[in-house]
Amino acid sequence: MTGGVAGHYAEAMRVIIVETAADVAKIAAERIAQAVRERRAAGAAAVLGVATGSSPLGTYSELARMVQAGQLDMSGVGAFALDEYVGIEASHPESYHAVIHRTVTEPLGLDPTLVRVPDGLAADLDLACRAYERAIVDAGGVDLQLLGIGANGHIGFNEPTSSLASRTRPKTLAPQTRDDNARFFDSPDQVPVHCVTQGIGTILDAKHLLLVATGAAKAEAVAAMIEGPLSSMCPASALQLHPRAAVVIDRQAAQQLTLTEYYEHIERHPLSGARGA
Ligand code: F6R
Repeated sequence: MTGGVAGHYAEAMRVIIVETAADVAKIAAERIAQAVRERRAAGAAAVLGVATGSSPLGTYSELARMVQAGQLDMSGVGAFALDEYVGIEASHPESYHAVIHRTVTEPLGLDPTLVRVPDGLAADLDLACRAYERAIVDAGGVDLQLLGIGANGHIGFNEPTSSLASRTRPKTLAPQTRDDNARFFDSPDQVPVHCVTQGIGTILDAKHLLLVATGAAKAEAVAAMIEGPLSSMCPASALQLHPRAAVVIDRQAAQQLTLTEYYEHIERHPLSGARGA
């Protein structure tokens, strides 16, 4: 592997610590843009994995800016969302169908027919989840999966104790996740109890992983993900298994890491070319 997004990952999680949330957005957007351009150079359109929540919003804005400025061509680019609530209509403003449309599909000018979100209204959720897995495979797999992290260490809606090998399936949201997401609803009891989510095994199948986190509320989960044991108690620790995972965090989200100087040293002395891949 050489150069670009594929370049200088060292079979370890790459940890990029920057000062502000705006810096996180810029770096993450640039890495996504690079993945799109690399796929285009290889004669294909990229397939992105996209997350909802607050964390990736700055990244999406930055990508939209690049598209508007003519610096990035998103034509033909497909996207798969990580998750969806069970039981709320796609037209509900906080359904992930609606959120992805509002924050990703429209601002980035994606073809809506190429943007998929799991079906939380299917009569047979297991069947719908299997169809979602198949759709990802049929699209050639996800080139780059963008992730946020829950304060409890979840990725997608894989809550603590989720199987590290799990596939897309229905799940019960953790009480903390419902509390955290209550801000998007009129009242906490409106937050759905169940969801469908890509599994950790599904997420790990993406060719590249890119996780963004900002703020002190994420510091404990970020430290557990990067420096804690591989454990279903911190689902994001599964990123330790991925050969091409990068984590972009601000100073506050990095505050409980113990090896900060080492991560910064690595960034100052990048491995390059084949030796670093
Ligand atoms: C979003 C998702 C979640 C969020 C996480 C962080 O599709 O699956 O894992 O990334 O809950 O949410 P925010 O970014 O709102 O703190």
